[in-house]
Amino acid sequence: MVKAVVIITVSDTCCKDHAKDQSGPALFQLVKEKFPDADIHTIILPDEKDLIEKKLKYFCDTKIDLILTTGGTGLSSRDVTPEATKAVIQREIPAISTAMTIESLKKTPMAMLSRAIAGIRDSTLIVNFPGSKKAVIECAEVVMPVLSHAQSLLA
Ligand code: MTE
Repeated sequence: MVKAVVIITVSDTCCKDHAKDQSGPALFQLVKEKFPDADIHTIILPDEKDLIEKKLKYFCDTKIDLILTTGGTGLSSRDVTPEATKAVIQREIPAISTAMTIESLKKTPMAMLSRAIAGIRDSTLIVNFPGSKKAVIECAEVVMPVLSHAQSLLA
């Protein structure tokens, strides 16, 4: 059961000005609709690999069921969310990101530019989303239906 969720917006810009974060609140809304009884915590981090890694590990250690990140999956040198996630997960779930890519490509060829990954650390499921509100909505449509079952398999 998904009881505790953390949504992490990864963006230097949004970290300086929280009002600029659109994808985090969009993800919050979608998670709230899907898991109305879950405790949802949101934070904004800069594009710093060590910090993202540290926070991901911390939330996994505190037995958060699901961590969704948004942003930092692209090609700029500051985009390090997939690297931080890779450093933390014990097993990758490539089909989650593949499914996101396949469906996203039907909306925009720019979907090729996301390097988002998904994986497991202990009993926490971590999924990267790209950093725009539009991308979050499109990708959530694909992955939301499997998250509850996926998480239940980790318990
Ligand atoms: N995926 C979907 N479904 N819709 C989108 O609009 N935008 C793309 C891609 N994935 C997009 C998408 C773009 S323009 C970029 S640059 C990459 O995600 C990486 O985004 P990020 O660096 O903000 O994570």
